[in-house]
Amino acid sequence: MRTVVVTGSASGIGAAVAAQLRAAGDSVIGIDVRDAEVVADLSGPDGRARAVALVREHAGGAVDGVVACAGLGPQVAAHDRIVSVNFFGAIATLAGLRPLLASGRAPSAVAISSNSSRIVPEGDSGLVDACLAGDESAACRIAGPLDGSTVYANTKLALARWVRRNAPETEWAGAGIRLNAVAPGAVQTPLLQEGLDDPRFGPAIRGFPIPLGAGFGRAEQIADAVVFLLGERASFCCGTVLYADGGSDALVRRDDY
Ligand SMILES: NC(=O)c1ccc[n+]([C@@H]2O[C@H](COP(=O)([O-])OP(=O)(O)OC[C@H]3O[C@@H](n4cnc5c(N)ncnc54)[C@H](O)[C@@H]3O)[C@@H](O)[C@H]2O)c1
Repeated sequence: MRTVVVTGSASGIGAAVAAQLRAAGDSVIGIDVRDAEVVADLSGPDGRARAVALVREHAGGAVDGVVACAGLGPQVAAHDRIVSVNFFGAIATLAGLRPLLASGRAPSAVAISSNSSRIVPEGDSGLVDACLAGDESAACRIAGPLDGSTVYANTKLALARWVRRNAPETEWAGAGIRLNAVAPGAVQTPLLQEGLDDPRFGPAIRGFPIPLGAGFGRAEQIADAVVFLLGERASFCCGTVLYADGGSDALVRRDDY
């Protein structure tokens, strides 16, 4: 039995990951603003520190897996919150729990990025760079006047790059901790539904092609990819970004590889 921490465990993809792990006999410590073992708000430093401290208490010194899934969609009006939860909340969880992972068995961490990270142009706003420089106040300031889709996609690009930059490092791969990311496409969850219901984003989401042709993905299909990367079957996967998007990214960026 593994002990796995899942942020955003109260809904959507995080809930599906938690359910699959529990069904397989693992112990899950969920972190969310509601309905979780650890109730904490990952949008700010106090909540992030509280989350790490409470996980340490629950887990007793070691965890075997961490999934950074909590996130906000492009329709959220407060762009600084999108930045703070999607990027800084995710990396605070991953970095904060890394010492517990170092004491875990076959430890592995997965961050949830998005296929929008490469489909929406990065632009020259400096948002991705500010995130990767760890400058949260600059990143939040830059995000203010940008459109929500750009803010969302840039936070997810920064998160995937953070995974790529850190995965091979001494503290991660060198300590035997595999760090990877999953980049989902459109998946039917409350987050997607809020985007679909918003006239600024709904038509674009509905019009975006998904080659597999079965409509939006299901949270369980993303959980399958996350659980794979967490587990022994992915024991040689390190620093990868696994697209689970029905082929949208390949369709749009065919040769961008
Ligand atoms: N649904 C999609 O189409 C899609 C596509 C690509 C990527 N993603 C990403 O997948 C992840 C999960 O999204 P979802 O679609 O399951 O959404 P969701 O809204 O169903 O679940 C997100 C969860 O994160 C939690 N959360 C939000 N802010 C938080 C905070 N400040 N502190 C702690 N928890 C917080 C919410 O309470 C919720 O339980 C997100 O990072 C999202 O960006 C989703």
